[in-house]
Amino acid sequence: MPKLRIGVLVSGSGTNLQSIIDKSESGYIPGSVELVISSKSGVYAIERAKNHNIPAYVVAPKNYSTKEDYEDKLIEILQSHNVDLVVLAGFIKVLSPHFVQAFAGRIMNIHPSLIPAFCGEGFYGEKVHKAVLDYGVKITGVTVHFVDEGADTGPIILQRAVPVMDDDTVETLAARVLEEEHKIYPEAVKLFAEGRLKVEGRRVKIIKQEDGND
Ligand code: GRF
Repeated sequence: MPKLRIGVLVSGSGTNLQSIIDKSESGYIPGSVELVISSKSGVYAIERAKNHNIPAYVVAPKNYSTKEDYEDKLIEILQSHNVDLVVLAGFIKVLSPHFVQAFAGRIMNIHPSLIPAFCGEGFYGEKVHKAVLDYGVKITGVTVHFVDEGADTGPIILQRAVPVMDDDTVETLAARVLEEEHKIYPEAVKLFAEGRLKVEGRRVKIIKQEDGND
């Protein structure tokens, strides 16, 4: 099977990007990060790409008069690198149906809660963990899902639970969740690269490996 060509969209520090680069370079993911696009200039994710000789582009929404023009630029760059999978890793823009249709079934996102809790419009970054603490749930977690036309509504690929501790702050909880993100995202990308994700309506089934090890 040819190696999966991955494009990663970021807006921040890029620790999830790093985990996918590392797991691709180690061979755990049978694929490679071909390019990174950031919606913001000056973010550390761009340095991470450069450190691995991966082309990095800054495409800032403010430079485009419409969302469609902005997304056309993203699509053009991703297609020019023949990307098979688009990975959203801390990318803060919500993509419209225009973009989603261009890569239907080939866009993944990670969200730092157990969807459908603490997700959707307005739930991003520290706001998610603050809402988790304010509500008082004992278990939160991480979700990797396919992106559809809604906000955090696409079919769920993998989820992992993370306990909430009595003395947690937003920062300590975010750090514990992030640790799990760095495991689960490469795992989901690996499954996609191996052709082992089968979407049936809202359910994503994981096809067992032929050697029976998984
Ligand atoms: C992560 O918590 C991710 O779940 C969310 O944004 C954060 C990005 O962190 N979507 P990083 O840029 O990958 O370090």
